[in-house]
Amino acid sequence: MALLETRELTKSYDAVAALQAVSLSVESGTVLGLIGENGAGKSTFAKCVTGLIRPTSGEILLEGRPVHGATPAIAGIPQEFNLVEDLTVAENIFLGREPSRFGLLDRKTMCEESRRQLARLQADIDPDAPVSTLSPSGKQMVEIAKAFSCDCRVLLMDEPTTILNPEETKRLFAIMREFRDRGNAIIYISHKLAEVKEICDRIAVFRDGVLVSVDDSEALEPAEMARRMVGRELTRMFPPPSAAVPGEVELEVEHLAALPAVRDVSFTLRRGELLGVAGLAGAGRTELAEAIAGLRKIDSGTVRLAGREVRFRTPAQAVAAGISYLSEDRQGTGILPDFSIEANITLVSLARYCRGGIFDRSAAEEAARNYVARFRIKPRDISAPLRALSGGNQQKVAVARGLDIGPTVFMFDEPTRGVDVAARCEIYEFIRELADSGVACLLISSDMEELLGMCRKIMVMREGQVAGFVEGDLLTEAELMYLAIGVKE
Ligand SMILES: Nc1ncnc2c1ncn2[C@@H]1O[C@H](COP(=O)(O)OP(=O)(O)OP(=O)(O)O)[C@@H](O)[C@H]1O
Ligand SMILES: [Mg+2]
Repeated sequence: MALLETRELTKSYDAVAALQAVSLSVESGTVLGLIGENGAGKSTFAKCVTGLIRPTSGEILLEGRPVHGATPAIAGIPQEFNLVEDLTVAENIFLGREPSRFGLLDRKTMCEESRRQLARLQADIDPDAPVSTLSPSGKQMVEIAKAFSCDCRVLLMDEPTTILNPEETKRLFAIMREFRDRGNAIIYISHKLAEVKEICDRIAVFRDGVLVSVDDSEALEPAEMARRMVGRELTRMFPPPSAAVPGEVELEVEHLAALPAVRDVSFTLRRGELLGVAGLAGAGRTELAEAIAGLRKIDSGTVRLAGREVRFRTPAQAVAAGISYLSEDRQGTGILPDFSIEANITLVSLARYCRGGIFDRSAAEEAARNYVARFRIKPRDISAPLRALSGGNQQKVAVARGLDIGPTVFMFDEPTRGVDVAARCEIYEFIRELADSGVACLLISSDMEELLGMCRKIMVMREGQVAGFVEGDLLTEAELMYLAIGVKE
């Protein structure tokens, strides 16, 4: 008998059929992969099975017995963080099931157990630290520790590795295998198809809310996975290299320090250039972009824009000067979940839609509609609130907003995180077009393939400094890693 089974599981939101009669089962001791385009219904499936939302119809069975609503036997790691920022790491890990001794909260056990779970992940996180002080990858580790510290039989993991580096992912996989080998089951959702093949025993493909196929993972190569997800052949991932020659220097950064993360960084970025930024987590890449974008205090050094020295004290000043920053932390600083697609795209650039002091609503709507069409954002209704969008579609909205200010410098920080293969091609094409149109672009990424596929020059950061620039024949994954780790000078 399957450990977990769904029968004709269906979920509709008004007119949208997010999930249509999905019948799927997972055996104990196995990992089932769930893949599909943005908006295919993967998270909806996970939310129904974990009891976070109520299905419109259909059944969920655990060891043959129907389950209604949440049960401790089925746990999930949600796609968007579900942590209470003001509580500590330990308090979050034990939220809702705090240990007690003689009726009192047993803080000691809570901390020790949290420390043990985090140590298994080799995550250097203090159980007493408030969650609000953690980096996105730190928060992800806390979500993972939380899931593995409860006694569940089935674990649904919704894109747990999007913000983890390869090393962290390896550790996660080891813990997943341990959990699986104890006779439990995992449902694993991801857009990283090679990882899906590596960790999963079987792979299910969703398209538009419908289960398209289930196969043994040995029988399914990533190219075939992509074809089934999208429903057509994807010929290439990256646009062909550009023939355009970079123009004048647009952005010049000299001995920039924003302590403690950024210690000494110098580089120049020309109009039409696309400079990659590689490095391990904690190398200071995001902090560098934040310092340039007015989100972080600069301690010393200079930033020049088109030859003129600038020092932005607020992000609004940077935007006004033509600097767009696409944040890696979509939830924290990126989007406004309760506002519409239109508001999210045009809010930062409202000034562009004012004629003689009057807000031109129809111009803003028109612009929003254009982006929705261009990036195939789902749903197409620009008045839909952002929280009703799937994770990848929210990311596309964030890209559109950055574009809408009409930037001369665009800094992308992990732009394709959580974005499906087809939409990823579109974002790459768009980044290339943007660079070719003369915008100076910076591409921060932890995805080596992405950096190598897109950039002709890559700056590698290590411990807040520039470890080196790589171009030409030296552009290989090995070379970037050497510099990032500091093995080779
Ligand atoms: N609260 C909601 N209200 C209305 N529609 C919703 C809501 N939540 C999800 N949807 C819709 O349901 C569909 C499936 O969304 P879901 O989040 O399950 O996609 P997904 O496969 O997880 O995508 P992604 O890869 O982008 O995370 C989408 O069309 C989405 O817009
Ligand atoms: Mg999702």
